[in-house]
Amino acid sequence: MRFDIFTLFPGMFAGPFSESIIKRAVSRDLLTIDLHDIRDYARDEHRTADDYPYGGGSGMVLKPEPVFEAVEDALSRQYGAKDTGRAAPCPIILLTPQGRTFNQAIARDLAGRRHVMLICGHYEGVDERVRERLVNDEISIGDYVLSGGEPAAIVIVDAVSRLVPGVLGSEESAGEDSFAGGVLEYPQYTRPPVYRGWEVPEVLISGNHGRIRRWRREQSLKRTLERRPDLLSKAPLDADDIKYLKTIGAHLPP
Ligand code: ADE
Repeated sequence: MRFDIFTLFPGMFAGPFSESIIKRAVSRDLLTIDLHDIRDYARDEHRTADDYPYGGGSGMVLKPEPVFEAVEDALSRQYGAKDTGRAAPCPIILLTPQGRTFNQAIARDLAGRRHVMLICGHYEGVDERVRERLVNDEISIGDYVLSGGEPAAIVIVDAVSRLVPGVLGSEESAGEDSFAGGVLEYPQYTRPPVYRGWEVPEVLISGNHGRIRRWRREQSLKRTLERRPDLLSKAPLDADDIKYLKTIGAHLPP
C-alpha cells in the first residue's frame, strides 16, 4: 500500500516512521510512504506557502497553489493524469478538525485501498478551494485542535498499516484488538503468576481453552459495558453474549 503525505513539516515524520512496525513494513515493501514538502511547490524565492486571510482576521491561511501543484504532481506520476476531487483515482484526504471522526471502520476501509493521499493542514486554515476542488474526504482524529495535521497523519498511517495483510506477524494479529469485533479487548497477563501478592486469574493458568475463551469474551463484554456502552448496540452479539450481559445488569434493546 502507498501513502503520499503532503506537509510543511516533513521532519515531523522521521521518528514515528523509522521505528517498529511501520519501519519493518516499509523495509519489506509492504508499505511505501512518500513525504512531499508543500513548500517545494511554492513559487517565490521565499518559498511562501501561506498568506493573510481575505476579509481580515488573525492567523495565516495555507495558499492553494502549492497544495494543488504538489498533489497534482504526485497524481501525474502515479496515474499519468491529474484528476482531483471526486474524479480522483484514490482518496485525497484533508486532515482537519472539521472532518468526519476517524475510527476503526474508516481504518479498515482505507486499508483496502492501494493508495491514499493525506494533506496536513497547518496554521489557522487552508484555502477553501482545496476543500472544494482538490480533496475528496476530510478526516479528524478527534474533537480537539492540533497545531497541524501531521500527528493525525501519523495516527492514520499507523492504524491503517497494521490492517494491511502481512504487516503484522501472526503473533501480533489485529483480529483480537479492541474494536476489531466491535468490543474492547479483554485483560491480558503475563509472567510472573504472582507479583507483589497480586495473582493472575486462575482460569488463565488452568489450560482449559474453552473456559479461557469464555472468560475472555465475558471480560470483553463487561469492560465494554462499563467503559463504552455505546459500542454494544452496534457490536455483533450472540445469544450467550446477551445472556451474560443481562446477568451483569446490561439494559439491551429488545
Ligand atoms: N488538524 C488540527 N486538528 C486536527 C484534528 N483533530 N484531526 C485532524 N487534523 C487536525
